[in-house]
Amino acid sequence: MDTLSIIGSQWGDEGKGKIADLLSENADWVVRFNGGPNAGHTVVDDKGEFKFHHLPSASLRENCNVLLGPGMVINPEGLLEEMDQLQEQRDLIPNIYVAARAHIITPYHPILEILEKSKDKVGTTGRGIGPTYQDKASRNGFRILDILEADFETRFHDRLNKIKSIWDNPDSLEKLDLERFMKVVSKLKEILRSHKVVNSSPLINNAIDEGQTVIFEGAQGSLLDIDFGTYPYVTSSNPTIGGIGTGAGVSPTKVKRRIGVVKAYTTRVGKGPMPTEDTEELGKRLREKGDEYGATTGRPRRCGPLDLVGVKFTTKLNDFNEIALTKLDVLTGLDKIKVATHYEINGEKITELPPSTNDLSKCKPKYVTLTGWNEDITNASKVSDLPTSARDYISFIESELEATVSIISVGKKRAETLFV
Ligand code: IMP
Repeated sequence: MDTLSIIGSQWGDEGKGKIADLLSENADWVVRFNGGPNAGHTVVDDKGEFKFHHLPSASLRENCNVLLGPGMVINPEGLLEEMDQLQEQRDLIPNIYVAARAHIITPYHPILEILEKSKDKVGTTGRGIGPTYQDKASRNGFRILDILEADFETRFHDRLNKIKSIWDNPDSLEKLDLERFMKVVSKLKEILRSHKVVNSSPLINNAIDEGQTVIFEGAQGSLLDIDFGTYPYVTSSNPTIGGIGTGAGVSPTKVKRRIGVVKAYTTRVGKGPMPTEDTEELGKRLREKGDEYGATTGRPRRCGPLDLVGVKFTTKLNDFNEIALTKLDVLTGLDKIKVATHYEINGEKITELPPSTNDLSKCKPKYVTLTGWNEDITNASKVSDLPTSARDYISFIESELEATVSIISVGKKRAETLFV
């Protein structure tokens, strides 16, 4: 029995999918607790690559139950497509449960996002995430349990008419293909009846009490948290440990292994300050070697050296007691590797991530330079196979974060992983 959380320590895209897939081999449950199809979790198995957006990354494991938790926002059409793809490409029908309390993304949510120009202002994924959480907070949302009710269509139309009456640009909502949406909803309804819409909090708490292994899989990263991230350049949910309480209905005190996923360098998609961003040679090299293009939108990611100021902040925030260090192989071939340990603003030393985005954009990273390595590390099967300078890099991260690195990923494949 075990309870684990797998949470991104940076701005997302840390490689959580691979870690969740690996650790779910013998798990009973994997639970997604935040976000929706803004996520893109890539898993590589012996049949190739699969990208998950709604479904937990353990969906390739036939014996594992997967739950889309109450803190999620679900696009019915997107979820059905993902399930179809899994069936077509892998002949798999995962054992899916969906929380009755999860909210649904309706066709007008992405349109509202366009009208609010969130893509330009924040660099959002355009999947209607913000407006759906907005409707949830203003108590106007629709939940999975609502689509099971006979009056759903009437209530949906009432809500749409209300939006049109207060929105500046109601014409933009006229073009919505509502017939298609209703068809998709009824198909989802049919499928969910057989896959169970659940009261997830008692279900998962009982599973833990019975000694089953439960994994909580975070989406996005801690620095994109609506409350503790680099606001307003954040997502609209809590990808942090508190999100397990609100988004899965399980107290974070029940999570024994709190794994922070740290990419060996830093990336970010969308707008907002990123102190270690490198727009020159190094940034380009990391992007190409690390294949740093968004799994959901295909956008090139901004890249740069590891920023430990941010990761130290999120390690405390989430109380990580283990670190999974990913994409270490991408650093192979660099003579010197820079790591930011603190910032400076006008000569003043800054050791804590500032809450003000304005202050963060003025922060100049201060680096420690470590020695790189040239040896191919993808074939390493134990830590002692790694070159000394790679081991020194890991030790430096451990001492700065005051946390143990327990997993090291040295390639995309499952086998390219070292367990310490
Ligand atoms: P939203 O989640 O689509 O509202 O986008 C808000 C911000 O979070 C934007 O900067 C996105 O690029 C970023 N974001 C959302 N999901 C992910 C993710 O899974 N990985 C990395 N960044 C993400």
